[in-house]
Amino acid sequence: MATLEIRDLHVTVEADNATKEILKGVDLTVKQGETHAIMGPNGSGKSTLAYSLAGHPKYTITGGTVTLDGEDVLEMSVDERARAGLFLAMQYPVEVPGVSVSNFLRTSATAIRGEAPKLRTWVKEVKEAMERLSIDPSFAERNVNEGFSGGEKKRHEILQLELLKPKVAILDETDSGLDVDALRVVSEGVNRVRESGEVGTLLITHYTRILRYIKPDYVHVFAAGRIAESGGAELADKLEAEGYEAYTKGGASE
Ligand SMILES: Nc1ncnc2c1ncn2[C@@H]1O[C@H](COP(=O)(O)OP(=O)(O)OP(=O)(O)O)[C@@H](O)[C@H]1O
Ligand SMILES: [Mg+2]
Repeated sequence: MATLEIRDLHVTVEADNATKEILKGVDLTVKQGETHAIMGPNGSGKSTLAYSLAGHPKYTITGGTVTLDGEDVLEMSVDERARAGLFLAMQYPVEVPGVSVSNFLRTSATAIRGEAPKLRTWVKEVKEAMERLSIDPSFAERNVNEGFSGGEKKRHEILQLELLKPKVAILDETDSGLDVDALRVVSEGVNRVRESGEVGTLLITHYTRILRYIKPDYVHVFAAGRIAESGGAELADKLEAEGYEAYTKGGASE
């Protein structure tokens, strides 16, 4: 059973010639098959956590450890992280001009599986996955994220998720900007991956809306750069009713 373990993670960022500590000791364990939701106020460091796990060069790890199956993730290049089974879907997906969705998926799958998927079965696999996510077949030949609407970008991420079958997937606000139909389609995709029992999911979200479709095993409140409280699915309802004030007042600054 693959396990992502984050221990006492501290991360800084350089801004305006000053070093700012954003993550102040994050502890979190995500096991294959589990679904965790992270909720928390704007600017609390949720995306910073996602970027740090992705290996984004802007973020400096100043303390703590991250391991996947005991292997040091922080020592790995961005590529190695993907091959080890980490999947990161960013809040703002980047455009990849000149690379079609179909080529991008095949290259990624080749890197992760260690060999190129057989063309015949692969084409079928992609076609079926696109149908399940109600993605128009013409998207296969479009450049990755170029001119995609917000909702189309998010569907494309779930397409990657379903085809690449990582060990642990971190989805940063996959639900933002989705209309009700897209939210359902995207949630169904996440649930299919989840039902395989082989993927651990960390869902960063602002809305309990998506949690009606995807029932998390654990909910964590993120505030001021660390996890302030953890609980079950019922914690999300409490947050919706009461907001984050209890976690932010007096404690937000250092
Ligand atoms: N590259 C950067 N340069 C400067 N400041 C940054 C950078 N990245 C993050 N920060 C700061 O770190 C803090 C946390 O940002 P982050 O994006 O992680 O928050 P978040 O919890 O994802 O918020 P939201 O809910 O709005 O998406 C913010 O104050 C932000 O301005
Ligand atoms: Mg964010």
